Formats: sequence, structure tokens, C-alpha cells
Amino acid sequence: MAPRCLRYGSGDSLAKKIPPGVGPRFPQVVVLVGATGDLARRKLLPGLFHLASAGFIPGCKVIGVSLDELDVEAFRVIAREAVDTFAPRKVNEADWHAFADSLDYVPLSAGAAGLKHAVHAAEESLGGNCRRIHYLSVPPNAALSAVRLLGEAELVEHSRIIMEKPFGTDLESAVSLNGKLHEVFAEEQIFRIDHFLGKEPAQNILAFRFANGLFEPIWNRNFIDHVQIDVPETLGLGKRAGFYEQTGAYRDMVVTHLFQIVAFMAMEPPTALAPGPISEEKNKVFRSMVPIDPKDVVRGQYGGYRSEEGVDPASETETFVALKCMIDNWRWAGVPFFLRTGKKLAEGQRIISIAFREPPKSMFPAGSGVGAEGPDHLTFDLADASKMSLSFYGKRPGPGMRLDKLSLQFAMHETGLIGDVLEAYERLILDAMRGDHTLFTTAEGIERLWEVSKPLLEMPPPVRAYPSGSWGPKSIHQLVAPNAWRLPFERGWRDPNPTGG
Ligand code: BG6
Repeated sequence: MAPRCLRYGSGDSLAKKIPPGVGPRFPQVVVLVGATGDLARRKLLPGLFHLASAGFIPGCKVIGVSLDELDVEAFRVIAREAVDTFAPRKVNEADWHAFADSLDYVPLSAGAAGLKHAVHAAEESLGGNCRRIHYLSVPPNAALSAVRLLGEAELVEHSRIIMEKPFGTDLESAVSLNGKLHEVFAEEQIFRIDHFLGKEPAQNILAFRFANGLFEPIWNRNFIDHVQIDVPETLGLGKRAGFYEQTGAYRDMVVTHLFQIVAFMAMEPPTALAPGPISEEKNKVFRSMVPIDPKDVVRGQYGGYRSEEGVDPASETETFVALKCMIDNWRWAGVPFFLRTGKKLAEGQRIISIAFREPPKSMFPAGSGVGAEGPDHLTFDLADASKMSLSFYGKRPGPGMRLDKLSLQFAMHETGLIGDVLEAYERLILDAMRGDHTLFTTAEGIERLWEVSKPLLEMPPPVRAYPSGSWGPKSIHQLVAPNAWRLPFERGWRDPNPTGG
């Protein structure tokens, strides 16, 4: 039987626009473990639906696996609800029916034999010459049993495995997980995902730094005073209390996403845009990272967290963390990187803010306003509709010398290409299907990050309460003093489309 291709109908322009080589060469059977969980519903099922229906994959079958005792029809209902609720694009019914046909479901109780049977049936229906992608969307303590199940079901051959973060919960568990994983899968089959690296603006950091002659010469301790990577979220836990209680904000966000962004910001120019050279430069940043001093960390917990369902009433899990991190190398010695993230905060933002050193201001008269609004900044917004801003002091028109803070801003919206942005998981799943490790993390990098985290994990400072809707516990201000947090912004982003037209 010829491999089935899930594509938009012939009249659709998207399928035609996809250049050859962007997707995998072979049809794919996706084994999605944790298929009814939060991540699968929010991102993975809508993402696979888009990849399959837009023609990125030359044939695709998705086998959902989870503890839930469902049949395939019930799984289709879950998938449809997920796509309707979370897909950023309008759902075309013909595409949906093709995707629904490609779904299958195996409860964990069916064991290795049940899973093996479903994968073989899927492969047969795709014409045989397929590749397997195992996506483990499960908490760290369930990862190994899923790996063993895949081994027992003899599904390792022709496969790649995507492992969700956090990878382990500390150095020992990450080393042990890597060791046990290697008993079943070879390193080149393993894709440790960090979806922040799949965000278009995160990759744009590389373009910005290394494709322009203007910025790289000033990208160091001589010109940069400090860096902030700030990812406040308004979201609470949703249905993730079980996962979050074991994890907390540091393991969920910092040791994973925020440190990966630090690496893109701080690394030396790689010799090529390829997995080896990029990982090498990122790992050098991690090797230069000074172990996190608990004195440089503020942990917080929003009011009411302990009375949420699934949360220990005496929980010490942090829902907020802010910290100072230092990179002790020639480029960055003495430049603090301030990181902050947390749940139920005042605003949802994902920004990187680079504060430049201030010049001597002696020629400007007192009261001119120079320096009054902080240093000049370069700011990246990591939203899918990304933005960038360079702020500077300029003269206010009229007599005398009054200075105002001005800015040059770029918004992805203005390019007309926003529709081409692949959601981070879509991009990374596609890369894994093609066997491209460039935007994935390595065992060495992850183990080093757990190593620098050790002092903090062993002696965490107490959690401080903060009210929902605030910016975290009060002590965050001492952490950055004499600097200040960029958020909340004093001046909002300029509306890229002020007329709404
Ligand atoms: C996930 C975390 O990895 O990233 C979540 O587990 C967090 O707690 C999410 O909300 C944030 O990702 P994004 O893409 O929405 O910024």
C-alpha cells in the first residue's frame, strides 16, 4: 500500500509553500506517552495536527498512550477538544478527519505487547518504510518505566525518542537517567527537548548576535552592565499540581528554559550552525557558570497554593524564583544575569533585557534628564509575535538640552510573516523527525546545570509568600539592587499597528 500523506486539500496554499527538505523523508509513527496530559492537550496534539495537515510530514500516525483506560474514539474526542481549544489556526474539517483517522490509542494496561501490535499496524498502513518517534510527555519519575516499555515492545529500532524536561531532578538522578536511557537508546537517538529553544525569537538571538557586525563587538563585560531574563506568568497550576509539587519553579523553568536562554545569550560564536559546535559553545557557558549561591536566590509561593487540590498543606515547593547567576569567563566576569519566573504574577511576559554600561555624563547640565530613566537597554520579547527594542537617550526638541528616553523598535507583526512562525514544539518535533539535534540539549550540558544547582537544591532558602497578581516577594528588589527590574515596563511596547488596519 502506498504511504498515506496527510495534506491540506489541493486548493490550499500552505502545502505548496513548504519547501522540500524541511520535513522528514519518511512517514512517521508517533508514540505519544502521556497523551491525555496537559502538555499533550495544549501543545503536542495541536502541533502534530498542524504538522501533519500542513504537509510537513509525508504520512503520519499518532498512537496515544497513557494510564487512562480509553478506546480510540474517546482519545479522538480528547484530541478534537485539544485542537479546538489550543490550535492557533482555524481547524479545517477535512484536515481534522484525516488526522482523526491517523489516531490510535493504547492504554498502559495493554503492556508492551499491545503497544507493539499498534505500532506495527500503523507502520503497515503507512506502507512499511517508516520511522518511529517516541515522545515521552511524562514527569521525571515516570520516564524510565516508559523507556523500559519501549525497549520491551522492541520499538527501539528506526526510532528517535524525545524526552521532556526536567531531565532528572538533580545531578544524581540525571546521571542515573542518562545511564539507564543509554542501556536502551543510543545517544544519537535521544532528543532532550527544551521548547524555549524552539521559539522563533530564541533562535533570532543567534541571528541577531552572529549575523550582524554591529552588536557582537559590544557583547561583553566592557559594555554590558547586567542582563535580565524575566518570564513572569499569570497562569496558575491548572491540573498540574501532581507534577508541580515534585518540581517547583526552579526545576520547571530555570534549570531548563532560562539557563538555555542564558547560553544563547552568552556563548562564543560557534564554528558552524550545527549541533556539535553549538552544543560545545553552550556547554562552555555552563562550565563557566558559578554554582548558584542560595544567598542569591529568592523563592516564593503564592498565597492559597497550599490549599489547592493535590498540594501538600505544608508544601515548601516554590511557585516563584528569582536569582543571580554569574558566568566566570573572559567575556562575562562580573556581569550579573538576573533570572526571574513564577506563577500567578502580575503579567505574562518573556523578556530578555540587556542593560548597557552608562557613559560619563559630565557635559550635561544637572536636571537634563540623562540617566534619569536607567541605562540604555536592548530588549527582546520572546513571544511568538516577537519584538525587539533598543532604547537610548535623545534630545527633546526645543530650547536647552533636555533628554528623553527614546527607542527603536521592531515587531515581527510588521513583516507580514507572522503566519509562517512554527510553534516551538512543532519546530522541535519536526527537527527530531529529521534527526537534527541543533536545538536540543545534551547530557553533558544538563548534568552540568544540575551540578551548578547543587548548593541551592541542598540548602534552599525559605519560601516567602507573595500575593497572586504581584511581582513576587518583596526581597526581589534587594537581589538586583542597585539596579531595578525592567518589569513592569515604565513605557509599554509601541503598538506596531496603531490604526488597527
Ligand atoms: C513549561 C513549564 O515547560 O513552560 C510551564 O512546565 C510553563 O510551567 C511553560 O508555563 C511556559 O512556556 P511558554 O511557551 O508558554 O512560555
